[in-house]
Amino acid sequence: MKKFQNPIFFKNLTVAFFLTFIFGFQHLFAETKKQHVLIVLAHPNPGSFNHAISKTVEERLVHNGHQVRVRDLYKMEFQPVLSLEEWKRYESQAGETPADVQVEQTEIQWADHLILIYPTWWWSPPAMMKGYLDRIFTPVFAFEADVEGIRGKLKDKKVSIIQTTGADETFIKENGMDESVRKLMGIGIFGFCGMQVAHHEFLMGISGKSYDELKVVLTEVDAMVSEWF
Ligand SMILES: Cc1cc2nc3c(=O)[nH]c(=O)nc-3n(C[C@H](O)[C@H](O)[C@H](O)COP(=O)(O)O)c2cc1C
Repeated sequence: MKKFQNPIFFKNLTVAFFLTFIFGFQHLFAETKKQHVLIVLAHPNPGSFNHAISKTVEERLVHNGHQVRVRDLYKMEFQPVLSLEEWKRYESQAGETPADVQVEQTEIQWADHLILIYPTWWWSPPAMMKGYLDRIFTPVFAFEADVEGIRGKLKDKKVSIIQTTGADETFIKENGMDESVRKLMGIGIFGFCGMQVAHHEFLMGISGKSYDELKVVLTEVDAMVSEWF
């Protein structure tokens, strides 16, 4: 009986009740935050490390309860070259959108969050990924530009980027390559379209790593994505 009159006991009970309430509420909130995630992968070799990253990311997202779709651009034989017809449409903002572009734009509309996965080629995304950006992130769909200025139209979407490099961390940091590439993607491309780059991760020095070291990197990718989502 005495125990129930102890103010410390009541204080602890209140704290326990409060924590249960908060964590329960947080859980409910997390349930409502399950996302539609679109992975866009650009690597020609299905046996590549980039494909292994994509698989790891996909499996982790599915395991964490998110809905995931993957656009494997090489496997789809995506045509990455902006044609003359498309360029004219780009300039005039009139005319029919090609069917394959419409498909990809519908996939992006479905998504809350895009994850781009690709190797660094000449400090840029591979031409396949660059062509995807050229052809899919078009005026009207991704941004509007007129005398009043530029307005991004994909404001409700986030994007994360995972890119591998051959170069090691020392070279990258000494030359500020990561910052240059982050600006290119974050301001020059996705910022222009109104999208926030949630994460831009460089997996550095991949070419020089052993099989066992790459397995460790995949474990780190798994943990990283679980933290992101
Ligand atoms: C055409 C080409 C250009 C490359 N340019 C770069 C580069 O500019 N910087 C860099 O760090 N690595 C560069 N690399 C190395 C790749 O980024 C590296 O091999 C890749 O990220 C490793 O991932 P993977 O095993 O999945 O291919 C280049 C590779 C190729 C094929």
